[in-house]
Amino acid sequence: MQINNVLITGVAGFIGSNLLDYLIVNTNWKITGIDNLSTGNKKNISSHLNNNRFILIEDTIKNLKSVKGYDCIFHLAALPRIQPSFEFVTEHISENLSNSMHLIELMIRENYFPKFVFSSSSAIYGTPDTVPTPESEKIDCLSPYAFQKYEVEKYLELLSTRYPLDYVCLRYFNPYGPRSFNPENKFNAYSSVVGIFLYRYQNNLPLLVTGDGSQRRDFIHVADLAKANYAAAIHPERLNTAFNIGNGSTISVLEVAQLISDRYEFIPKREGESEITFADTQKAVTILNWKPRHALKEYLQKEIKNKQ
Ligand SMILES: NC(=O)c1ccc[n+]([C@@H]2O[C@H](COP(=O)([O-])OP(=O)(O)OC[C@H]3O[C@@H](n4cnc5c(N)ncnc54)[C@H](O)[C@@H]3O)[C@@H](O)[C@H]2O)c1
Repeated sequence: MQINNVLITGVAGFIGSNLLDYLIVNTNWKITGIDNLSTGNKKNISSHLNNNRFILIEDTIKNLKSVKGYDCIFHLAALPRIQPSFEFVTEHISENLSNSMHLIELMIRENYFPKFVFSSSSAIYGTPDTVPTPESEKIDCLSPYAFQKYEVEKYLELLSTRYPLDYVCLRYFNPYGPRSFNPENKFNAYSSVVGIFLYRYQNNLPLLVTGDGSQRRDFIHVADLAKANYAAAIHPERLNTAFNIGNGSTISVLEVAQLISDRYEFIPKREGESEITFADTQKAVTILNWKPRHALKEYLQKEIKNKQ
């Protein structure tokens, strides 16, 4: 199906705003973004606010009455942090599960099934038995956040046995890149580690390494995530499956800190977080024809140079 009109939920967030940048440059699609600005920031999308191909709805997903007319929905809006999901449990269920179900229910009620590209997470693997980790790895949710992502995936699978849903779940590994850290976000202490490290480095603060820093992460640049969303959207088939979207390599958190600064301190380890994330991306490479292009070390070098 040809794509003309798309919806991005969570467009003013870290990944949503980078997806908007990508789609504005690489497509001629009309893009509607919805965001309640709870953790996002209008500054992230300020360069597009006067573009006549982009409309911003400043509202919560729950107030959306229809999804008719969109050829694709990129569903990114969520409360995306593991630690707060242990504390504000019902808020996270509402934001991460109920809002997703609201979108899916609108499609069902309107009998209208655009491509639905869901931002899932590698958090659903917990600490995996197999590394690199394929999509067939056992599910081991260590946090309410991970469980909510898995629930949405499962609901999509279940409901597609009854309705002609057309969906793709993208299990992001550990994203980094521009706008990953929002100092105004109430949950910013739990943002992606690369963003926090760079923010603290740029503000002459010591980097805070959780545990002994030996936990390893597969870091993926946000531009590569945007491209994966695009690849999922334009795929001509009804895929109804999940893909790992990672870089396919790992580095320890301590090594990342040491690449940035020699001023770092250790803070207590956090429960609910994996010892290792390491994506087997073969499925995305083969089916979505997608490959990561960016390297963490080059990104860090550039960011460090910018400060000097
Ligand atoms: N950043 C990561 O480390 C990571 C890793 C794996 C998966 N993901 C997933 O990717 C997606 C995007 O994450 P992000 O890092 O860009 O987060 P973010 O917090 O920067 O962006 C989320 C956006 O959604 C908006 N939002 C939240 N609730 C909303 C609602 N009810 N209605 C409308 N807008 C709402 C927020 O204001 C924000 O702009 C999320 O689904 C997240 O779970 C993120």
